[in-house]
Amino acid sequence: MRQNRWIRALFIGVGLFGLIQLIPYGRPTQNPPVVQEPPWDSPQTRQFFFRVCKDCHSNQTEYPWYAWVAPISWLIARDVQEGRRHFNVSEWHRPQKDADEAAEEYRKGTMPPPLYRWMHPEVNLSAAERRKFLQGLEATFGSSSVEEHSTRVKSVK
Ligand code: HEC
Repeated sequence: MRQNRWIRALFIGVGLFGLIQLIPYGRPTQNPPVVQEPPWDSPQTRQFFFRVCKDCHSNQTEYPWYAWVAPISWLIARDVQEGRRHFNVSEWHRPQKDADEAAEEYRKGTMPPPLYRWMHPEVNLSAAERRKFLQGLEATFGSSSVEEHSTRVKSVK
């Protein structure tokens, strides 16, 4: 009896997994064109950026095979859409007001998102590379400095 219930649950699970594959939302779409890139401070910074950040912050996203498999595809589609909306190095002809947070986000470890880092071990840089990349991010995109933040917090109080 009990075993039957497990088997039924398993069939329902597999069936649902199959069914959600039919939902067209979230499948990788063709990358939009690259219009204009920022004035990188060095080719090396660009190289680091394309190794670590480009999948969600450029129009040159490379999709892994599992980007076609729901429900992971839904998460990836959201990341790419939101990431590009906040900060897109392929559309530098329009204002990118969050760009000055790039160095800070990377320093804190909030970017790239932890799950992405886990799925893409190649984005983990050595300590020396990390330092260079941080300098490059600041030189290219500026920095929303710590002082600035604390005065903002103070003025709110
Ligand atoms: C897996 C996708 C992904 C990767 C890779 C990624 N980001 Fe993001 N990023 C996002 C998303 C999604 C957002 C939108 C805010 C949110 O939902 O957290 C975002 C937001 C940002 C913002 C705007 C922050 C704000 O407060 O508005 C900056 C700056 C940023 N990312 C920088 C980077 C940098 C620099 C890298 C590489 C070191 C990077 N991101 C890698 C997905 C990504």
